Amino acid sequence: MEFNDVIYKRRSIRKYLNKDVEDSKLLELMKYAMAAPSAINKKPVVFYIIKNNEIIEKLSDGVLFSKIISPIMILVAVDLTKSISTNPNDFYNQDASACVENILLGATNLGLSTCWIGTYPKQEKVNKVKEVLNLNENILPFTLIHVGYGDEKKEARTQYESSRVTIIK
Ligand SMILES: Cc1cc2nc3c(=O)[nH]c(=O)nc-3n(C[C@H](O)[C@H](O)[C@H](O)COP(=O)(O)O)c2cc1C
Repeated sequence: MEFNDVIYKRRSIRKYLNKDVEDSKLLELMKYAMAAPSAINKKPVVFYIIKNNEIIEKLSDGVLFSKIISPIMILVAVDLTKSISTNPNDFYNQDASACVENILLGATNLGLSTCWIGTYPKQEKVNKVKEVLNLNENILPFTLIHVGYGDEKKEARTQYESSRVTIIK
């Protein structure tokens, strides 16, 4: 896909077909994610690919405002033992966000749909994800991503507004 198509076609999709996602595409998504930049290249971000329907239902009930069911969820998380520090103001937020966006754009490129589900820094959502996935205390759940073949169409678009840009000469 052309770069412009990937950027503008990526939209949040909240309805999914009951169709499996190929493992080769999931592997590709992990490669895209790990190509993201990382502060001092510490790479503290880890990934959980969730294929289990019951777990996806539980996460959907406990974490989201609206129930979305997709064949796959990816949890992007931070391994605090690998981060520069465990200070919540540290760069791991940005490391993880860069991985998330690579996954969203990469998925679009592979013909898949996604929806970013904010988790960190909402403590009740972080706790719920930790409980459902039985994560150890060093793993900080950051973002859940729905992944699958979409069952709704949204138009490609840029949301460009010149008022959001300041040019400093
Ligand atoms: C940090 C973050 C958290 C989000 N959390 C949710 C969420 O919990 N549920 C949801 O349906 N969409 C969520 N979204 C998706 C936004 O609602 C969506 O990106 C926005 O409405 C723009 O639409 P678009 O993604 O189609 O361009 C989140 C997006 C971001 C960046």
